[in-house]
Amino acid sequence: MDTIVSASILSADVCRLGQELERIKESGCDHVHFDVMDGVFVPNISFGIPVLSGVRKHTDMFVDVHLMITDPLKYIGVFADSGADMISFHLESRSDPAAVISEIKAKGKKAGIAIKPATPVSEVLPFVKSVDMVLVMTVEPGFGGQGFMHDMLPKISELRAYAERECPGLHIQVDGGINAETAALVREAGADILVAGSYLFKGDMAAAARSMR
Ligand code: DX5
Ligand code: ZN
Repeated sequence: MDTIVSASILSADVCRLGQELERIKESGCDHVHFDVMDGVFVPNISFGIPVLSGVRKHTDMFVDVHLMITDPLKYIGVFADSGADMISFHLESRSDPAAVISEIKAKGKKAGIAIKPATPVSEVLPFVKSVDMVLVMTVEPGFGGQGFMHDMLPKISELRAYAERECPGLHIQVDGGINAETAALVREAGADILVAGSYLFKGDMAAAARSMR
């Protein structure tokens, strides 16, 4: 599978978001990753619906919305209508996962399900065949700039082995602590959508994106 590089705008200069979106595109990144945090599911608050609408007006890139919120089911409709191309939500949230997936599909969007570091792959397997993507978090969700958790690599391999048998087209996304070195490790383990925030935004974004492929 080709590697997809997804730029997390949590690390962008939000006062210059329009220029940052142009920089993401010009640097050859494939997706824009949009982190939504509610201050309850994770101990941080990021940005939400009006910012997503603004991003949608400004870019034609694929926008991947990562919901780190308590009740995703309540908000799928509004995020879908505000410009998400793909929506991922956490298995550990309070909503019924099957209902959230149906709602995302009913809105005509790609669906992703995310698991936190402490959640074993076995818990997400019942839902894998009904989603486009599984997000294996490689840090505790909530903040950019954290160190990659190497003990997540076996989870990626386990999920890729399952997908090869049961659903070959599955995308496996990783998010947290991705740079040139950890990108090579997660690709080797079977991930194909690599999200990066601090690594991409801190300097030459095009060179950083190339180094992740
Ligand atoms: C963290 C977010 C990530 C974050 C990654 O909870 O989901 O998308 O932006 O940041 P880095 O790449 O700096 O670890
Ligand atoms: Zn994220």
